[in-house]
Amino acid sequence: MSWVEFKNVVKKFSDVTAVNNVSFSIEKNDFFTLLGPSGCGKTTTLRLIAGLEIPDEGKILIADQDVTYKLPKERNVAMVFQNYALYPHMTVKENISYPLVVRKVQRQEIEKRVRFVADSLQIGQLLDRYPQQISGGQQQRVALARAMIQTPSVFLLDEPLSNLDAKLRLEARSFLKHLYTELGTAVVYVTHDQAEAMALSTKIAVMDNGSIRQIGSPKQIYDQPANIFVASFIGNPPMNIVPCKISNGHCLIGEQKFPLQTSWEQEYQDAYLGIRPENIQLDPAHGDLHAQVFVIEPLGVETIITLNVDDHQLKCLVFEDVPFAPGDRIWIKFKREKIHIFDKNGEKVQGRLSS
Ligand SMILES: Nc1ncnc2c1ncn2[C@@H]1O[C@H](COP(=O)(O)OP(=O)(O)OP(=O)(O)O)[C@@H](O)[C@H]1O
Ligand SMILES: [Mg+2]
Repeated sequence: MSWVEFKNVVKKFSDVTAVNNVSFSIEKNDFFTLLGPSGCGKTTTLRLIAGLEIPDEGKILIADQDVTYKLPKERNVAMVFQNYALYPHMTVKENISYPLVVRKVQRQEIEKRVRFVADSLQIGQLLDRYPQQISGGQQQRVALARAMIQTPSVFLLDEPLSNLDAKLRLEARSFLKHLYTELGTAVVYVTHDQAEAMALSTKIAVMDNGSIRQIGSPKQIYDQPANIFVASFIGNPPMNIVPCKISNGHCLIGEQKFPLQTSWEQEYQDAYLGIRPENIQLDPAHGDLHAQVFVIEPLGVETIITLNVDDHQLKCLVFEDVPFAPGDRIWIKFKREKIHIFDKNGEKVQGRLSS
């Protein structure tokens, strides 16, 4: 049995279906991330696990127990909310120890555990301050400490890094990954930041409009996206998606065409080619398609080059010096095994091997 299970869960708020027949299972050692755009149902899913919402349909299990209709306090979960929600009238120490005080844990035991989590989160020197006397990043660590002081079956974290500036956010991200290895139990994490999801997770569920569009490891989600929604949500810049036709083992983009792998037998009138920016090679003399350099953006380690191909723009990512200038006419070549073809509904299709 899995550690947390969602079985065909539906949650409606009057006419909005926030969670639409969602199923997934999480193992005890998973860092499971719900990733998706604003309003897709991430927080609602987390609140359903916590027991702050009750589903209209379906079942929720935690550690083999059906908790679908159990109260939050009967579920043994710890949640860090989207806005940390520290108690402003309590010191840092009182904030952290609150979950144990409520459970009437012995004072000595509380002291010991506060010391331990405060040390591991490096906030030991802030214990007597009030939330408004510490920085946003410190507040966020206090909120994490308050969750960590408990020993829940599952940690639920709702965009815990969202209020931090870019640099602090990166630091907190590494820290969180380190912390996860020490927690020893499942984390369910919510974010709309694809890089954060990739960096932290063992499993990612990509959500769109109340439904899960794909579940997989970060590598599976990145390398084998099941549909255009997932393909274009992950990666920076995201995957290029270009309308095309597939015929006789060739891909037609506008007036130009190039061969797919020799085994491709499927035909599509309205399809889409997907290719990640790092899988396009540039050449002055030959390739698959003719292109014109539009813009070159050097970013330090890598350079983003925007190309015009007929009426379409493609972004490509190179890690060497760029011997081209805007306006240059060049050739582009697609790494064959990195080409994705999607049908007109945006679902991935495979070429059938000819026998
Ligand atoms: N209590 C509520 N009453 C009515 N509608 C709600 C309620 N909570 C959420 N919704 C709606 O359900 C949908 C999903 O909301 P949810 O908060 O789960 O999204 P989210 O993915 O967490 O978004 P964000 O990234 O903006 O936090 C939205 O359309 C939202 O407006
Ligand atoms: Mg949310």
